Amino acid sequence: MTESEVDKDGQVGTDLLAGVDLKTTEDIEVPKLLIDQVIGQERSVEVIKKAAKQSRHVMLIGTPGTGKSMLGSSMAELLPKEELQDTLAYPNAEDKNNPKIRVVPRGKGKEIVDAQKQEVRKRIQMRNTFLMFTFFLIMGMGVIYAFQDGEIKVEYIFWSIIAAAVVLLVFRWMMPKEEAMMPKLLVNNAGHETAPFVDATGSHSGALLGDVRHDPYQSGGLETPAHDRVEAGAIHKAHKGVLFIDEINTLRVESQQNLLTAMQEKEYAITGQSERSAGAMVKTDPVPCDFVMIAAGNLDAVAGMHPALRSRIKGYGYEIYMKDSMDDTVENRKKLIRFIAQEVRKDKKIPHFDTSGVKEVIREARRRSGRKGHLTLILRDLGGLVRVAGDIAHAEGAKYTTGEHVIKAKAMAKSVEQQLADEYLEHKKDYQLFKTEGVEVGRVNGLAVMGDSGVMLPIIAEVTPAQIERGRTGNSNW
Ligand SMILES: Nc1ncnc2c1ncn2[C@@H]1O[C@H](COP(=O)(O)OP(=O)(O)OP(=O)(O)O)[C@@H](O)[C@H]1O
Ligand SMILES: [Mg+2]
Repeated sequence: MTESEVDKDGQVGTDLLAGVDLKTTEDIEVPKLLIDQVIGQERSVEVIKKAAKQSRHVMLIGTPGTGKSMLGSSMAELLPKEELQDTLAYPNAEDKNNPKIRVVPRGKGKEIVDAQKQEVRKRIQMRNTFLMFTFFLIMGMGVIYAFQDGEIKVEYIFWSIIAAAVVLLVFRWMMPKEEAMMPKLLVNNAGHETAPFVDATGSHSGALLGDVRHDPYQSGGLETPAHDRVEAGAIHKAHKGVLFIDEINTLRVESQQNLLTAMQEKEYAITGQSERSAGAMVKTDPVPCDFVMIAAGNLDAVAGMHPALRSRIKGYGYEIYMKDSMDDTVENRKKLIRFIAQEVRKDKKIPHFDTSGVKEVIREARRRSGRKGHLTLILRDLGGLVRVAGDIAHAEGAKYTTGEHVIKAKAMAKSVEQQLADEYLEHKKDYQLFKTEGVEVGRVNGLAVMGDSGVMLPIIAEVTPAQIERGRTGNSNW
């Protein structure tokens, strides 16, 4: 079937599966890679693939639920995982407020820390054995003295216990704290199958840029060493991966500025974000943050974005507007059917759709597009319908989700606008403006569409005689 035939609605409209050979969605294969599961956004997919190859930043603008986050995580799958690295923080003997940073290949970081832990545990064990030995040696001497002259001198035993305890405490205090010298693993990529995808939407500056925790005990042997209080931010965790920020305009201007610096330098030192915290004195060596940024949002996001940040993306990346609908062609219907299969597989609990169920979903996709000859691409909402229909089928113990289930689901999963329209309709009925039987001169029944919900409301036009001027035939009155 060609596209022009599809556009001649009537024929295709009656058969929603025209040209598609299908029994149930069970037989449909779902592609492995997330990027191949994206439906209808061909241009965006192409750009994302290109950007992944060249490590370019991307701005995705569009309606919620059209697949922006999905494209973001699919980009992470495309990035090379061989280049992934782990980051460690080490204490600095010369300046304890300036922890050292070390970068090692993926997986090595955890190995280093584990090996160090073992080493430290061994040393602590040795230390404890030594302390115990000294403790009992002093006490033993006390006991020997106590029994030396035939009569038992209890005070010798007493004093030896006190002496042993004092020696124990002094030793403990003087000996170096092995635990404090352990490196801290800031970014750990061990065991990760793909490059990181870090969603930093709505992060405050500490979570975005890294932070140093406050230390209430800043001295006296109780303090936690500075390097141990360092926490990596989203930009560091996204190193060699994707940093995804939705509604970028809600990020504070200073944060956007700092983000820009991080993007330019590809490294960013971690310091305490709160001025009055002890963490503010600490500043690490630069920590690598070579990420690809995906900035998402609606058109407001573009307007509220820091101009320098926007220009950075423009200059070193791509801007994409996500589509809201796609042409109603056989190819695209096939994709929509695959979408149903994807959602069913993803959910795991709901039964697959048979042909009647698929037809109803396609009908709904056409209706929701709000455009002749189009299918909606606001697929999160359509996925919601698929899940509710599936839940109903599951509750009924049906083997497949059918058209009836989808129709029931539509009734259940009504938007607020739809529910409001229904209520309004009920009120209207009370007044019986409509006559659905017989013939009457001067009355026209009509329909109005309510909001973007696609709900039809009955309206009525009536001809009444003119009241002021003579000679006119009358005016219409709603
Ligand atoms: N183009 C698409 N192809 C396949 N599935 C899609 C597509 N768009 C949305 N979906 C489905 O809808 C879900 C939600 O989409 P996603 O979170 O990517 O939307 P979004 O554009 O990021 O929305 P928001 O702006 O609200 O964050 C996805 O997990 C997927 O199941
Ligand atoms: Mg999203």
